[in-house]
Amino acid sequence: MKDVTQRFECLLKYIKYEGLKLKHQLNHQPNLKVSYKAQDDLVTQYDLAIEKALIEKIQKEFPEDAFLTEETRQSISKIERPTWIIDPIDGTTNFVHGYPFFCLSVALATPQGIMAGAVYNPILNEYFSALKGHGAYFNNRRLPQLSAELQKKALLVTGFPYRKKVTEEKLTFAISLFAQFQAKSQAVRRDGSAALDLCYVAAGRFSGFFELGLHPWDIAAGLLISSEVGAIHLDYSAQPTSLFGKELICAHPKLANSIAQEIQILNEKIEQKKSS
Ligand code: IPD
Repeated sequence: MKDVTQRFECLLKYIKYEGLKLKHQLNHQPNLKVSYKAQDDLVTQYDLAIEKALIEKIQKEFPEDAFLTEETRQSISKIERPTWIIDPIDGTTNFVHGYPFFCLSVALATPQGIMAGAVYNPILNEYFSALKGHGAYFNNRRLPQLSAELQKKALLVTGFPYRKKVTEEKLTFAISLFAQFQAKSQAVRRDGSAALDLCYVAAGRFSGFFELGLHPWDIAAGLLISSEVGAIHLDYSAQPTSLFGKELICAHPKLANSIAQEIQILNEKIEQKKSS
């Protein structure tokens, strides 16, 4: 088996190539063809083409590796061999509407964890990457470790479950959380790309992130990039979470725990209301 560093080098090369190609196509001949995977789940010819190109290139060099990708959605729930986790365009709704907050996100996981990852926004030419144990980088500059920040001074970011099939209860919960943190932090944003949100936490642009209903391809690269600068990842019950978790809080450990505490307080209030 060729080693992780070799795979990381390929990952960097291919994600950049596909990102720049996408930018060129958008500038010269966008001709966006939008279709629906489900009632409210958009996909374009670019999502499909980027995913296909990445898989073909990687498969040629590493034929024994597995894939877990947004557009083909293999049902993997455990990483048993080197697995490439790909979201060809994270933030597809933004992409379709010309809002330049979207990215390509690629990670490499092995049974030992997420070993390498990169997230690339070709429009802003912003590039985040990490190799496990070697720090996180933003446009080739090493990112410093996160420092602790008080919740009341924090700029937080979240996402809402936007699939129509999501229960009203979950949506109401997500919106109540937004309101709660809007009152108890400096402000909250909702930007539409979980992969970039996590990288922005790593870069110190956001102080913390929380969201329900995520998929491994939305978060894999961002998990590694943020953990390389000292962020931790918790679920809404303050337990450590990982790639296959459906809830995620990402921040410096102190802030992550205080976000989890707030979420638990809101949860208790809701449960009390239900039982009264
Ligand atoms: C979505 C984005 C969004 C998050 C959704 C994801 P997609 O990914 O990451 O921020 O709120 O949960 O599904 O569908 O644009 O690749």
